[in-house]
Amino acid sequence: MLPILFLIPLLLSTTSHASNQDFCVADLTASDTPSGYPCKPAANVTSSDFIYTGLSAPGELIKLINAAVTPAFVGQFPGVNSLGLSAARLDLGPGGVVPLHSHPGASELLIVKSGHITAGFVDSANSVYIATVKTGELFVFPQGLLHFQVAAGKKGAVAFVVFSSTNPGLQILDFALFASSFPTPLISKTTFLDPELIKKLKGVLGGSG
Ligand SMILES: *[C@@H]1O[C@H](CO)[C@@H](O)[C@H](O)[C@H]1NC(C)=O
Repeated sequence: MLPILFLIPLLLSTTSHASNQDFCVADLTASDTPSGYPCKPAANVTSSDFIYTGLSAPGELIKLINAAVTPAFVGQFPGVNSLGLSAARLDLGPGGVVPLHSHPGASELLIVKSGHITAGFVDSANSVYIATVKTGELFVFPQGLLHFQVAAGKKGAVAFVVFSSTNPGLQILDFALFASSFPTPLISKTTFLDPELIKKLKGVLGGSG
């Protein structure tokens, strides 16, 4: 009996705090900082902060890549703020591709919902790891490494990805080179690519310089 009596004041003191550190729902009216958004006041937090419905429908495929990536990062889903997690939905049409890219701030877990996806990455020793991932199967991409996803076979595919950060960041290699104002002579010098090829790709991807 005695130990239970001792517990009662302890329980009361832990449940009577209206504000706690269980979560820090983003106050998106403030600006993002390297340590995340400031917390919305606890009294303003509701269940709707912890559900995100924006990945339930397919994204609109971008013509050039026949694919769509729909993010559920902290900017879309304030409940993930401070939890070290976020997600995205991948829709790939037939032959669709998420071009070679990296997320500087997160490792990535791919979960295939339908279809087959050829996924792969290159590590910092330039070893290449590629697998065809089927419905219900998983693949991981270590943080910061260049990687890709391609629809395998003749059909499209749908997948969800989970990131180990609320804000994984995204850098697409071809966009950095050919959709930017990076001067063509310097791209050629720093990548060993033929300037004619660089100009052609800039024409397709909208780069200048
Ligand atoms: C919190 O709720 C109060 C009352 O509805 C509102 O005035 C205030 O702007 C809200 N703050 C944030 C950060 O959402």
